[in-house]
Amino acid sequence: MRTELESRRVRVSAIREAAIDILAFDLAPLDGRPLPAFPPGAHVDVHTPSGLVRQYSLCGDPAAAAGTWRIAVKKESQGRGGSLSMHEAVRAGTMLGVTGPRNHFPLAADASEHLLIAGGVGITPMHAMAQALAARGAAWKLHYCARSREHAAFLDELTLLGGSRVVPHFGLSPTLDVTGLLRARAVGTHVYCCGPQGLMKAVEAAASHWNPAHVHFEWFVAAETDGSRNVPFEVELARRRMTLAVPEDKSILRVLCEHGVHVESACEQGICGTCETAVLQGDVEHRDKLLSREERAANRSMMVCVSRAKSPKIVLDL
Ligand code: FES
Repeated sequence: MRTELESRRVRVSAIREAAIDILAFDLAPLDGRPLPAFPPGAHVDVHTPSGLVRQYSLCGDPAAAAGTWRIAVKKESQGRGGSLSMHEAVRAGTMLGVTGPRNHFPLAADASEHLLIAGGVGITPMHAMAQALAARGAAWKLHYCARSREHAAFLDELTLLGGSRVVPHFGLSPTLDVTGLLRARAVGTHVYCCGPQGLMKAVEAAASHWNPAHVHFEWFVAAETDGSRNVPFEVELARRRMTLAVPEDKSILRVLCEHGVHVESACEQGICGTCETAVLQGDVEHRDKLLSREERAANRSMMVCVSRAKSPKIVLDL
């Protein structure tokens, strides 16, 4: 379940070009107190100058970060403006609001081998993971897909760290044969993937015969959902003794907001975990990209920005 996360202001202490269209931002504390340590795979919510909140993975060596954080942001010219504003309006010295870190993409403690597959700026969580794995002497390999060497952020550092464990794949369409890669692996192997949807879906399909608990994804863009199968339902707010109707064209989050019930949210795409809410009764149709199969089956929480009810009524701990 979601725990309350700290929000703070940080100062951008340095910016550098990590690759074509990718800037790396170093974030420093304002009050002299070191920023909290973060586990590999963690991300933060950044309040970008556009007003949009965006999720960015923390990169670099979690053990050597010394109270500062680093994120890397790809300029998405066709996006909604969050990344563009980071590229165009943020300078060294700019203050940013940041919430977190939180981690939905942890390294498995019991893996015999860690297979990391990154595409483009999806390298950012892997950057921290590879450093942590190297530090603990774990068995790991990183397959890194990018359009070209010049588009591959942090490749030199990673190659220095891992040598032949780091395998780059360059080209416009993925040159990595994920089906072959995932066909036969040792039983204790865990695979982790972050990158463009095409790569994520290819890995999802190629690992469909794997133990689902061994396959991990970090989504930064939600998959398309088909709203045409939405049906209306009721949501009861147990602590407020209120029942609200959720029509087929609105999310629970939207209905709550329209009735003055505040639930914190950020991505509104089911990929960040900010709006996770405890479920007391009813069946959930989970549409997020975060909860594991076990968590879904337990039916204890849901992302109210995208998930809906399968039963005529759902009761939330609100
Ligand atoms: Fe991000 Fe709901 S707001 S998962």
